[in-house]
Amino acid sequence: MTPEDAKAELERLAALIAHHDRRYHEHDAPEITDAEYDALRRQNAALEAEHPTLVRPDSPSRTVGAAPAAGFAKSRHLVPMTSLDNAFGPEDFTEFTKRIRRFLGLDHTPAMIAEPKIDGLSVNLLYEHGAFIRGATRGDGQTGEDITANLRTLPSVPARLDGPAPARIEIRGEVFLTKPDFLALNAAQETAGLHIFANPRNAAAGSLRQLDATITASRPLSLFAYAQGDTSDQVAPTHTLYLDQLRAWGFTVNPLSRSMPDATAAETFQTEMAATRSALAYDIDGVVYKVDDIALQRRLGSVGRAPRWAIAWKFPAEQATTLLQEILVQVGRTGALTPVAALAPVNVGGVIVTRATLHNEDEIARKDVRPGDTVTVQRAGDVIPQVIGPVLTAPRGQTPFKPYETCPICGSLATRPPGEVVRRCTGGLVCPAQATERLIHFVSRNAFDIEGLGEKTILEFHALNWLQEPADIFHLATHKQELLTREGWKAKSVENLMRAIETRRTISLDRLIFALGIRRVGETNARLLARHYGTFPTWHAQMLAATTVGSEERSALGSIIGVGPALAEELAAFFTEDRNREALARLTKELDIQDATQKSAGGTLSGKVIVFTGTLETMTRPEAKARAEALGAKVTDTVSKRTDLVVLGADAGSKAKKAAELGIATATEAEWREMAG
Ligand code: IVH
Repeated sequence: MTPEDAKAELERLAALIAHHDRRYHEHDAPEITDAEYDALRRQNAALEAEHPTLVRPDSPSRTVGAAPAAGFAKSRHLVPMTSLDNAFGPEDFTEFTKRIRRFLGLDHTPAMIAEPKIDGLSVNLLYEHGAFIRGATRGDGQTGEDITANLRTLPSVPARLDGPAPARIEIRGEVFLTKPDFLALNAAQETAGLHIFANPRNAAAGSLRQLDATITASRPLSLFAYAQGDTSDQVAPTHTLYLDQLRAWGFTVNPLSRSMPDATAAETFQTEMAATRSALAYDIDGVVYKVDDIALQRRLGSVGRAPRWAIAWKFPAEQATTLLQEILVQVGRTGALTPVAALAPVNVGGVIVTRATLHNEDEIARKDVRPGDTVTVQRAGDVIPQVIGPVLTAPRGQTPFKPYETCPICGSLATRPPGEVVRRCTGGLVCPAQATERLIHFVSRNAFDIEGLGEKTILEFHALNWLQEPADIFHLATHKQELLTREGWKAKSVENLMRAIETRRTISLDRLIFALGIRRVGETNARLLARHYGTFPTWHAQMLAATTVGSEERSALGSIIGVGPALAEELAAFFTEDRNREALARLTKELDIQDATQKSAGGTLSGKVIVFTGTLETMTRPEAKARAEALGAKVTDTVSKRTDLVVLGADAGSKAKKAAELGIATATEAEWREMAG
């Protein structure tokens, strides 16, 4: 590779690894497996070794994790929290011990201790005079998120150390959820219609990084303590004795740690742990080997992002091959179509697998996976197994998979907006897979706001077949007599519900638009649309006309301030689907829709999250911020999915790009002035 190519490749890898770091650390939603991630890092390290002069200042080899997310206070670690170098086989491990001997000038490898590598979330706990003072996530290694309140809810984080302790000590460990607790949590999340976690690690991270610590308290999180950061007094001469001290103070220390007299012992232990791994109640993804003598650890120190005295020897991902019988397409509650492999049952590392994810249609095409193929299936740290690809030496399936153009559940059009990987069912109002989710949204506080018709009731009525689509809400009175006989319903509660429904027959246009649950149409956009078109018949007619690509109405819609082409596309997709139009007609027959009135700007911005970027010409940034806040908005610095509006000053750069990527409404300075009155 020429130096120019290497430079470009290192840049690409740095950006890619940083992206996956954010997915993993900030969003708790990785897109690739740990093994794929490790491979990217190895590629980067190999290229850097070949071209040492090209190592970037922001190289992944120099950084750890991701910067702390907004929402939590920052907490600086007294001693940085480093990562660990990885070994993937005996050669890497030998290289590790050789380096130690060379560095220390020894002819034998010093004694080691081995501990399972827990696949959780590392935390730093600061104790002063024996009392738990502060706790933080790893963050970027220097600074993490202050999650003290959350950590206090964990039974395995002692509020006070039991017995004498240094005046100040940082204790480190891994927070995790057991596999059974993870499955139970996901089952409860599913029933409640909430986020489903991909694996125990993500669930633990999501549970711990809650702004509301009572949610953390409700999740059965555990902690294994295994390391030390800063300390005012040396605790123990060896790591083994340090672990004993941790136990004495009241921490849980992993019972499977073993001392390792030599490298052969390590190899045997590695094989043993790989075999017992699937029987453990918690996920481990390798074994950490540490030099036991703490004085030697100090001498060895760190290089880059990892200490020289420890290594994580990772397990290979568990794989097996089997027949791909069929590619099924599941429709999620939000309408996302996900291809799933139906497999001939196969044992993958102790678990019988019959289903595996195929991620999305691009992945299927990239790997050229076809029904009838023999495929390699993998379970990495993730609990959801995945298809790696076809076994090319086996007989191949004949017909490639063809993406669905209609929803397999309701038959509505399934579209894939440009730039997105996910195909979605557009039949939001009628699709049974999405019905309850949409109905819950429909009656929510900022939509129809029907008191007495909460999530539980919607699920009940849906199961009774009384409620399939929004219009059905206004026919619930026909089931009044039967409802009176059901458990939990009394004359009064039935009466109240019927009255609440009747009052909502009169509805403002913006609430109606918002209630339809069209993708990207949040409250702000619904208000913008309502104010722009004024009346339901006008809006409706214009939306129908805008379904024609290239029509005047479509471009007019896309150029409404704050709407933009991506949103126009979603609206057009909704109105293109006959089933939606029919469901909307059935609904509006029941309603008295009020025209949009020009409300004061205050109402429009209340509760909205706004980001200003670039140079404002007619007002200073603080002035703009104060004005926005006076109108009830919240002003933040970073553009995220939660942002409602990005105001673009002159030379707006990366934030404008981000807004476009996320499909967030933008406004010019002049437009902003108008909005702000
Ligand atoms: S020791 C300086 N021990 O693995 C060394 N780490 O990939 C500090 N981990 O950030 C870490 N189990 O989150 C150590 N028994 C164990 C571990 C462990 C899991 C995690 C930890 C660390 C990561 C490195």
